[in-house]
Amino acid sequence: MTKFKRTLITSALPYANGPVHIGHLAGVYVPADIYARYLRLKGEDVLFIGGSDEHGVPITIRAKKEGTTPQAVVDYYHKLIKKSFEEFGISFDVYSRTSSKTHHDMASNFFKTLYDKGEFIEQTSEQYYDEEACQFLADRYITGECPHCHNENAYGDQCEKCGTSLSPMELINPKSAISGSKPVLRETKHWYLPLDKHEAWLRQWILEEHKEWRPNVYGQCKSWLDLGLLPRAVSRDLDWGIPLPIPNTEGKVLYVWFDAPIGYISNTKELCDANPELGKWETWWKDDSTRIVHFIGKDNIVFHCIVFPAMLKAEGSFVLPDNVPSNEFLNLEGDKISTSRNWAVWLNEYLVDFPGKQDVLRYVLTANAPETKDNDFTWKDFQMRNNSELVAIYGNFINRALVLVQKYFDGIVPALDELTDYDRATLKEFGDVKTQLEQLLDNFKFRDAQKEAMNLARIGNKYLADTEAWKVAKTDMVRTGTILHIGLQIAANLAIAFEPFLPFSSAKLRSMLNLETFSWNDLGRFDLLKVGAKLGKVELLFEKIEDADVEAQRQKLLATKKTNELDVFKPTAIKAATTIEDFDKMDIRVATVLECTKVPKTDKLLQFKLDDGMGGRTILSGIAQSYPEPEKLVGMQVCFIANFPARKLKGIDSEGMILSAVDADGNFVLVSPNKTVKNGVSVG
Ligand code: MF3
Ligand code: ZN
Repeated sequence: MTKFKRTLITSALPYANGPVHIGHLAGVYVPADIYARYLRLKGEDVLFIGGSDEHGVPITIRAKKEGTTPQAVVDYYHKLIKKSFEEFGISFDVYSRTSSKTHHDMASNFFKTLYDKGEFIEQTSEQYYDEEACQFLADRYITGECPHCHNENAYGDQCEKCGTSLSPMELINPKSAISGSKPVLRETKHWYLPLDKHEAWLRQWILEEHKEWRPNVYGQCKSWLDLGLLPRAVSRDLDWGIPLPIPNTEGKVLYVWFDAPIGYISNTKELCDANPELGKWETWWKDDSTRIVHFIGKDNIVFHCIVFPAMLKAEGSFVLPDNVPSNEFLNLEGDKISTSRNWAVWLNEYLVDFPGKQDVLRYVLTANAPETKDNDFTWKDFQMRNNSELVAIYGNFINRALVLVQKYFDGIVPALDELTDYDRATLKEFGDVKTQLEQLLDNFKFRDAQKEAMNLARIGNKYLADTEAWKVAKTDMVRTGTILHIGLQIAANLAIAFEPFLPFSSAKLRSMLNLETFSWNDLGRFDLLKVGAKLGKVELLFEKIEDADVEAQRQKLLATKKTNELDVFKPTAIKAATTIEDFDKMDIRVATVLECTKVPKTDKLLQFKLDDGMGGRTILSGIAQSYPEPEKLVGMQVCFIANFPARKLKGIDSEGMILSAVDADGNFVLVSPNKTVKNGVSVG
């Protein structure tokens, strides 16, 4: 028997610098949630740990771009991401964050322990420094010419054109991506984890003792190990992150990939400290009867299979993960999902367009899970799987069974009489289900497991269609009762089998069947509903999705191909606090458009003549592409800033700035009072 008494499940901590999309859900969170729900349903001792990853350079860059602080950025996205996960039923026992005090302490102590044990090496090297921005530059924030293919926009870590890995020193004419200036070399000291020293045991542990890991995970580890491991820096010159807990290291923080996985531990501690009945956090991390399973995406493999285990081993008191089921990537309509190009289905937006349809997305993402290779999500397939699987098979079966019981037996579970051979054959098919599903789920084959559950629904659907209870009811109520009794027991089995995959629908079905509780061990039983028990109210489990609904989604996606600078169309983090005095300095007023024309020989500029209630003024505004017929704006009221110093554009004096917002397609939309007011009045 297994030596394990409990399972700690983690799922990669998403960076809190953008909302989460279907790729995240398919790659990590849905599979992790299926697994957690499955083990809980079996009555096992399990914790499911999540949280936001709130450090790293991209967050600082985003803050700079939005004129706010890194803390404001992560506050905003942490909340948004947490809410999306809740809405999709991702059943974390804790969802915390790496900017928490618990985490700062945990990660500092972890580093300090390794430092005191002499597990790091110290090394001084020359790195690029941006003298305008006064900071060292992460590899990704240096661009320049690729020495191989001469692409002028190669990054300091990689040229995306020819695919070569680079170091910033190799770039020709390096430029800082932050200020655009030419960076200079400066000496700096860093701490390195000597992975080379860990290579031997890692080889043994992964390549010999974990041959059962998924081939994509095992294979990636093997190629890293075969290339030979090198020391990795675990500190950075940056002002956002966890300060190095050693003297004379001002301006240095832990490398985000050092602190983030420790977040799993910190979040477990936070959970256990608040809920003593769960036991001590140490039991979940240091007792070798705990099994740790990390769910991640494939870009995280090396960190979870090599770097983090080396950290844990160096520390000495932790257990190592038992498995690291990593998925490949999910594409969208044939293209790589990309946050910067806005080629994604964002979870918060999905729920606005498809309210209540969380399970549909969960179902489709599992049916197409990129478990062994990259996979593609298309809206057509989404519709097809909903209409011809969820609605036509599972939903249809449940609805038919329950409606017939309402109609002929007043919603009361009918008695079972003699069984036919066909009945017996149907029951038999359910006999092995539990073992079959367990085999798949225990091996992280969620896609096949869900298929198996859908097969059960198919069997039920076929049983009802073949036995034609509505015809039998005309002559034989006893036989009708037997058929529907079997139908109801199948329905109860489906509620259990689908719970890990489609939790919302299972809850609904459970209440329709009036089943108070169920457990995994009930699966395959045919006495889950008692004769004479009253059923609950019948509702539809799934609804058809129309062509127009998915076409609208496709159009929405295609529209993003037209525009590129998309970050502006998303809500951005709130800027640093302002004051009423600062606001009062802005003289915002209303005016009526008297004339509006395109400035000749420009693409973007419109020239507005305004009645500002003070004798009139001219303002130029760069919104021409959004208003191809500018003369139509005449007569409309707009808001403008009246106290900007005048400036000359294309030889014309522009006296102020007209306010506009941006719509979802990237068009400017003028801001106008919603009733006519006197020209020249202030806005405030
Ligand atoms: N934030 C990382 C990513 O999205 C994942 C961090 S996983 C952790 O790729 F283990 F470091 F937390
Ligand atoms: Zn190149």
